[in-house]
Amino acid sequence: MKVLVTGGAGYIGSHTVVELLNQNYEVIIVDNFSNSKKSVLNSIREITGKDFKFYELDLRDKETLKKVFVENEIECVIHFAGLKAVGESVKEPLVYYDNNLMSTVTLLEVMKEYGCKKIVFSSSATVYGNPKVLPITEEASLSTTNPYGTTKLMIEMILSDLYKADNDFGITVLRYFNPIGAHSSGFIGEDPNGIPNNLMPYIVKVASGELPILSVFGNDYDTHDGTGVRDYIHVVDLAKGHIKAIEHLSKGINYYNLGTGTGYSVLDIINAFEGVNGVRVNYKIVDRRPGDIATCYADASKALNELGWAASLGIEDMCKDSYNYVLNNKNN
Ligand code: NAD
Ligand code: UD1
Repeated sequence: MKVLVTGGAGYIGSHTVVELLNQNYEVIIVDNFSNSKKSVLNSIREITGKDFKFYELDLRDKETLKKVFVENEIECVIHFAGLKAVGESVKEPLVYYDNNLMSTVTLLEVMKEYGCKKIVFSSSATVYGNPKVLPITEEASLSTTNPYGTTKLMIEMILSDLYKADNDFGITVLRYFNPIGAHSSGFIGEDPNGIPNNLMPYIVKVASGELPILSVFGNDYDTHDGTGVRDYIHVVDLAKGHIKAIEHLSKGINYYNLGTGTGYSVLDIINAFEGVNGVRVNYKIVDRRPGDIATCYADASKALNELGWAASLGIEDMCKDSYNYVLNNKNN
């Protein structure tokens, strides 16, 4: 089967392409490298020993995107491309609405024109806002607190309307919890530009000496040690969830949480990271980060029951592989 992967040079996209190639899917990647590096493409080839087609393009460029569909008989699309920095989206909302919404609408228009009606979309647990009930099921109420999250929720609504208008579409919306970790080869992983906002990218930079100290945002939450609790999931497990999603893709629209179902606090993560990697992570407790919630973890049973998918890698693997990637790529 020929699968178009938008944003396939990015963090989750690159790991998913590796799994697709390992399963002998034919892969076509489109990416504009707005948040990724060209070298990732060769790293994917090195890991898998397999090749794929690649087009450098912005998804909003409809005419060039049409060429991709003319030149390849694409049967299914996995749509990762999008901007994802919460703080930046608050400062530059129009950039986020333009990039995330327009690229998705353009993609869907071109898919419809060429009769490709299967899509897996990267959504986020951010669409659950501040959850009232834990663990979070797919039926939980939806709300957002920032423009990034709103683009995810709006795209979910666009997809729902599209399915209502055309029942031939097969649409799977995957709501990721907190992806961390890297491929065990150390060739691909998460490589954010500038000072990271998210926890694990910050921890690895403190552990490797690139940044002096981690700020732990609040220790007065109603959690077992007072620090924020999240459902961290290894990116390779997440990537495998996409293979299950396309294997089960049929007409209809379906929503799945991709998480482990277990919540870890910030201090749990620091302790696990120090233990498995044998390094110190200097940290200090500071005020809460505005907009943060206390606890968030998934009920991932729907993905298990309907897709036959469950995460298998634990927190030690996540911490080990995250650090291994950074040590391997320190001088790049
Ligand atoms: P990423 O930034 O590493 O990858 C996204 C890729 O899309 C990048 O390679 C970027 O260059 C490309 N891209 C962006 N806009 C584009 C455009 N207009 N045209 C072509 N390419 C474009 O991000 P990621 O962490 O791999 O996330 C992938 C998807 O999953 C995103 O949609 C993100 O919102 C979603 N998601 C990520 C997380 C997370 O924590 N990483 C959590 C939930 C959901
Ligand atoms: C963040 C985004 C969310 C997005 C998710 C996955 C915000 C407010 N939310 O969620 O929309 O879907 O990433 O990309 O940005 N922490 C520290 N110190 C740090 C960084 C984080 O203590 O330097 C804490 C946070 O307070 C939180 C936990 O670590 O308790 C995880 O934070 P982070 O990795 O940023 O993810 P989320 O806040 O869950």
